[in-house]
This record gives sequence, C-alpha cells and structure tokens, in this order.
Amino acid sequence: QVPAAGGPSTLTFPEIRHQLSQRDAVPEGYEVQVLIRWGDPLLGDAPDFDPNAQTPASQAGQFGYNNDYIDFQPLPQGSRNAEHGLLCVNHEYTDTQLMFPGIGSGRAARLRPTAEQSRTERLAHGHTVVEIRREGGRWSYVKGSRYNRRITGETPMRVSGPAAGHDLLKTNADPTGRLVLGTLNNCAGGNTPWGTVIIAEENFNYYFGGAAATTGAQKDAYRRYGIVAEAQYGWGRFEDRFNLDKEPNEPNRFGWVVEYDPYDPQSQPVKRTALGRFKHEGATHVVNHDGRVVFYSGDDERFDYLYKFVTARPWNPNDRAANRDLLDEGTLFVAKLQDDGKLEWLPIVHGQGPLTAANGFANQAEVLINTRRAADLLEATPMDRPEDVETNPVNNRVYVMLTNNSNRTAQQVSPANPRPRNNHGHVIELIPPAAGNGFDHAATEGGRWAIFLMAGKPGQDAGAQYHRATSDQGWLSCPDNCAFDAKGRLWIATDGAPTAAGIADGVYATDTAGAGRALTRLFYQAPTGAEVCGPRFAPDDKTLFLAIQHPGDDTGSTFEQPSTRWPDFQAGVPPRPSVIAIVKKDGGEVGT
Ligand code: FEO
Ligand code: CA
Ligand code: CA
Ligand code: CA
Repeated sequence: QVPAAGGPSTLTFPEIRHQLSQRDAVPEGYEVQVLIRWGDPLLGDAPDFDPNAQTPASQAGQFGYNNDYIDFQPLPQGSRNAEHGLLCVNHEYTDTQLMFPGIGSGRAARLRPTAEQSRTERLAHGHTVVEIRREGGRWSYVKGSRYNRRITGETPMRVSGPAAGHDLLKTNADPTGRLVLGTLNNCAGGNTPWGTVIIAEENFNYYFGGAAATTGAQKDAYRRYGIVAEAQYGWGRFEDRFNLDKEPNEPNRFGWVVEYDPYDPQSQPVKRTALGRFKHEGATHVVNHDGRVVFYSGDDERFDYLYKFVTARPWNPNDRAANRDLLDEGTLFVAKLQDDGKLEWLPIVHGQGPLTAANGFANQAEVLINTRRAADLLEATPMDRPEDVETNPVNNRVYVMLTNNSNRTAQQVSPANPRPRNNHGHVIELIPPAAGNGFDHAATEGGRWAIFLMAGKPGQDAGAQYHRATSDQGWLSCPDNCAFDAKGRLWIATDGAPTAAGIADGVYATDTAGAGRALTRLFYQAPTGAEVCGPRFAPDDKTLFLAIQHPGDDTGSTFEQPSTRWPDFQAGVPPRPSVIAIVKKDGGEVGT
C-alpha cells in the first residue's frame, strides 16, 4: 500500500513507488510536460533534429546534450512573471555511445568519433538560453526568439579577476591569457541578484591528455585535478589545445565559474577567477545582512572541499551596471567543520598562513589557479563529494548535498563525514551566526554545522538516518542537486542510486523544520540510466523544472539498442536528455 498523505509532513502529494523503468513517473494529480530535448532547434535557421545526421552546424543552433543546471529568469527582466521567461540550461557532457549511429558502446565509444563528430560533441556542451512560455497550462519554447542562444565548448569568453593574464593561462592561440574558447563540463550553477547566470565548470580534466600528464613541468598540478595521460574524450587528436604536450596551459583555463547576462544574447561570458579553480559543482548565492553577496560552491570529488566567496562590496539594487564586475573582488574561503559542531571558514589569500612563496605561491593568481593545493595546506575538511550547496530562503541555513564516498575508510571518518564506505551520501546543514536583523554568511567563525540526514535504506544500510516516519518509498541514495520552494522545503535530486541502491534516481521532498523535518518523500522517478539535475521552481512554485540527464546510460546501451528511448519512444530515435516541466493538474503549487 502506497502512503496517501505525508504523515507529519506538510507535503501532501501521494508518494510514488521506488522502481526501475524505461519511463518516468510522478504522483497522481501531476503531469510531466517535455519542454525541450537534445537537438530541438533553437535558433531561427536551425534544422530539426535528425538522429542519423547530427553535424556541428546543426548542433550549434540546437539544444545541447546532457542538460544539468536550470535557471528561470523572468520576462520582463526584474518581474516575478512565472509563466514567461528565459530558461537557462547547462549541458554538462556528451554520451558519445548514444549520439551517433555505429559508434559502439561504453567509454571506448568516446574515443571513436571522427573530427566532425568530436566537434559536434563540443558544440553539444555548454549552455542554452531559450525563451519559454506557459499558455493554457502548457509550457513550450519559442523557436527563433531573439533571446535564444547557445554557449558552447568554442564560444569566446573573457577571463577576469586576479588570475587573468597570468603566464599559466597563456597559450599559443591566446598569448594574453585573457581569452578562452569555450566552457566545458557545466554541471550545476547559480545566479546573482542582478539577473546574471553563473555556470560552473566541473570535470574539465576529462578533455585533456598527453604524456606531459606524468612527465611535464605541471605534472603535480595536473594530478591534483585528475588530469591523466589518457583523456576520456579523443578531442586532442584533432585539436591541439586538448593535447597537454602541445598546450600545457589550456587546462588551467578551465575549472572556473562563468558569469553571463541571459538578457543580452550578444554579451560575452566571463570566467571569474576570484572564485577559485576546482571542480565547481555550482555556485549559489545568498545576500548577506550587509548587502554583500556570498556564493557557496562544492568541489565534487571524494575528499575535496566546500568553499564560499564573499564579495568585497555590497551589490547595488538600483544600478545593474554597477554590479558588472562585483565578482572580481572579494575573498574565497574554504570550510573547516570542527568535530564539536563549530564551523570555521579559512581565507584563501596569498601571504596568509601557508599560502606563501615558500610554498610555491608567488601571488594570488597562483593561489587561485591551484585552489585545491591551497586548501590542502590550510587543512580544510575533506568531504564526501560536496555537490549542490543552497541556502534555505526561509531559515537561512545552508544545505550541502554530499553524494557519496566509497573510498572513506574507518580511520578517516569524523563527525561531519561519519560513515566509512559512504555509498549513499548525506546532507549537512550549515547554520550561520545571527547578525543585526539577519544572518552573517560572511562570518569566518560563530557558525555551526549539523547532519540533516544520512542517506540509504533505514534498517538495511548502516548509519541511515531520517525522520522515523519516512516510508519504504521515501528513503533516498546519492543526494546531488537541490532546490527550495518558497515555503523552505528542500527538494533533493539524486545521482547514482541505481548503482548504490538498486533504485532509480529521482526527486525527494522534505520539510526542513517542524514535525516533518527530514521526512523525505519520493516525488519523481527518472527513466533508466538517467540522473536528475537542475531542480528549479518557477517563481510561483506551480512548475518544477527538471533536467533529465543521460537517459539510457546503462551498461551496453547503444544508439541502435538503447536501454530506453525516453522521451520520444520512437523506433530509430535514441534517448534524448530533456528538460521537463512538472505541473499539478489542478493548477496548484507543486507539493501541496
Ligand atoms: Fe556533474 Fe558533480 O555532478
Ligand atoms: Ca551534479
Ligand atoms: Ca540547485
Ligand atoms: Ca552528477
């Protein structure tokens, strides 16, 4: 029997069942609308999707692959319009084996593309801006809108902040160290109070390879970022910049966050180096009590760290242009979660503590380019893969999704990462100190942290910990991305549950306070092979947008014989990563 209501939870949707399926599922009373799919034409002259003939030219004007972060920026700008706006979507990476006919299966397929196919993949990376509308209850996108835009692995972008122009950022193609072609592996993201969008560069190491990974002058730095001789993609065979032996500095130009203006399709995106270089899962903001803006960011790797960046100045709500370079000045911090529950933030500033010339840092640029090594020296707390980090708009606490860490040993556990072989992950709550009429997210001490939940199946997986009324359907594994509704309820999207727990990835919702705290309930179940990314509510909470990433990415799945053909279910059409809009059939708020 599926529980019909939420027990002490304020979430009243009828919970769905854990299952694995080629199709996705939502609770009774809800509807899934497929809004936009890989290959759907965006620009006016873009051709329709043709699964057998994707080319660089077609892909450059079409929705990209493996949608991840989702933002919704209302139209007109500055309004709270919930039915018309710009959908801003990351495209993290490509599943070569599901994109091209005859390419084979598995990771080996990633090394097989021709020069043209590898360029198609590069153009399927990056980001999309697309105008969307809800009319008569149905969402659709506007083909050929003047706002529609593709940002790709080749789009020119400026480098700004302390590392711009440093020798380690210079290449043959760019002797200035200030102009990079493209953004790659855009996983989660964030936005700013002034209406710009931030896209984060995560696993940039996948694209670079060469003998220099083990023999070159930068081999130690490469190793710290996971750059190895054998790249995961074969792009370096056709493009020198992905070959470390020819362009040893190109990888230093990735691993940053990129800010761009979605309302101006001509604007040039900017890599903001002040926020550090690591596998940025995302970068979400909260406005501090004093008007400065604080960005939280996880570095998604086992035993890596949690960061925040505090702007030097308050933002200006009355003059959008005055905020244009706010992200170039400020302080980056890394978190230390003390065993007694105290939270400490350590400044990553050249000349302070161990970040000196004696340890190989000539200036702040070198500190930022090697953020991970700087944080190692500061003895930050190694976490279990910090993914999305977001601030609850109601209680101002910050929630950190920790996906998992199967490598943590019994000797390496600590109160903040308490489980050895943490296959299911956990969620931590950061409590900033009170200040004036709000909270001080900029504080370096005075904050606390607490475990919100420990994922896994209660009664089966050691250490699993939720509200005791959590149902047999409501437990989760591998928390990855998250979102809050206006009531301060946490919506958690998972990545990796099929492998870790034998259940599909999905979306779970829970109260964060009151009688239903940490009582997670299953709201959405993804199709086989997929993870769920980018949960984003429209400003009226009546639509939940989800990015369904890598559907059909199961072992042995191929273009010809995929494990699912979601969402089209048409012969000859492979699965297509897509953004869906989930609405309540009665038009009410999602979750109520
Ligand atoms: Fe792209 Fe950390 O997931
Ligand atoms: Ca993710
Ligand atoms: Ca999020
Ligand atoms: Ca992921």
